[in-house]
Amino acid sequence: MNIVVIGAQWGDEGKGKIVDYLANDSQIIVRYAGGANAGHTIVCDQVQYALHLVPSGVLHPDKTVILGSGMVIDPAALFEELSMLESRGIATKGRVFISDRAHLVLPRYIRIDRERDAMRQNPIGTTGRGIGVSYALKSEREGIRIADLGWQEKMDELEQEDREFLAPYRDRLQALAIDISSYLYQHRNEQVLFEGAQGTLLDLDLGTYPFVSSGMSCAAGAAIGAGIGPRALDHILGVFKAYSTRVGNGPFPSEFDSDSEDALCCFIRTAGREYGVTTGRARRCGYLDLVALRYACISNALDSLVMTHLDVYDTLDEIKACVAYQIGDRLVENFPASVAMLANARPVLRSFRGWHEDLSALQSYKDFPSAASAYIEFIERFCETPISMVSVGYDRNQTIIRKNPWKETVLS
Ligand code: GDP
Ligand code: IMO
Ligand code: MG
Repeated sequence: MNIVVIGAQWGDEGKGKIVDYLANDSQIIVRYAGGANAGHTIVCDQVQYALHLVPSGVLHPDKTVILGSGMVIDPAALFEELSMLESRGIATKGRVFISDRAHLVLPRYIRIDRERDAMRQNPIGTTGRGIGVSYALKSEREGIRIADLGWQEKMDELEQEDREFLAPYRDRLQALAIDISSYLYQHRNEQVLFEGAQGTLLDLDLGTYPFVSSGMSCAAGAAIGAGIGPRALDHILGVFKAYSTRVGNGPFPSEFDSDSEDALCCFIRTAGREYGVTTGRARRCGYLDLVALRYACISNALDSLVMTHLDVYDTLDEIKACVAYQIGDRLVENFPASVAMLANARPVLRSFRGWHEDLSALQSYKDFPSAASAYIEFIERFCETPISMVSVGYDRNQTIIRKNPWKETVLS
């Protein structure tokens, strides 16, 4: 059986924490999209790890992790991350592999990414990791793949700067390369976890284009980015925060108003530690946007949702969530494609009672205060999707299971 874990909002939903948690019951963890633009945080026993390229299952010493074909990989960032893990006592040798179809990110792409975004009339606010340039070259059929490293003619054709950069990494990358489709086919009877990066609303097709990333962060991206067919995906799980955040530019209809809701924004940013793992930028914060969340459920055919950061709301009297948009004189209930419409959307808010109780030490859903359960169960009804897990803190152990996703699907 396998499970796909994706972001159901604008990234940073807590995918790293959830993948680390579910990895315990899997043998193989595959990251299938993005590159070093991602920052996935895992905290276990008060020790924090920030991963950008290596799948979040790596902290479990007996698991195999694979960087999939849909990724764009900066070799310098990858080997820095592997050294960081080794230096912190996490052995990686013999259990970290890369698809030979994955693309490479070169220093030149990083420069172009930063220059282009700075020159845009409406900058996207990219992470400056060369991601868009690498995916664009891939589409233009000018990219460099892991498999190309063993192809001398191709290497000879490269610009000198690129060749010199790759020289120290060629053998090391080739030593990690595998044919991912064959590998996963051979291991088809094992439990495999597919780790998404970014989130639905940053997906190139589903997201708030052009204010998106350039990879496939949607669930369907798991099939392509891991080299397996869509029928092989068993359970699609969408992670979302009890509120919303976004880093970088682009529409965000339920964002807190900088004048009237500044205090709430500061509170959430501090309590939720809402600063980017990759760039350190303060994240924009807002109410949970249920219009967007329902769109994520539909467009990814989510089997279940995982709610994170519910603990951040513990001390509030009242909690609000956006249930529709007011755009001009229209009430809009579906997530529009047009960024112009989204930019003009005013959130229609529904109010919920706060619970004034510390959720962070709870171990079972039946112990949840009724006001917290009411918020959770309203979201389930609104999105017509069950919430299978609730995270009440950043630590691995602060995770409440309502229905174990590994046990949901019956193997035929
Ligand atoms: P990812 O990119 O989706 O893996 O998420 P990030 O790691 O970028 O950001 C999520 C942040 O929230 C990290 O600092 C996590 O340690 C933290 N986190 C995850 N789940 C929870 C939760 O339930 N409550 C709180 N307070 N923090 C959480
Ligand atoms: P994880 O996996 C949040 C955002 C950037 C920018 C846009 C395009 O940690 O959830 P890019 O460098 O990809 O071309 O930037 O996408 N972005 C993310 N925001 N979490 C991420 O990843 C992100 N990866 C990219 O801030 O707005
Ligand atoms: Mg992140």
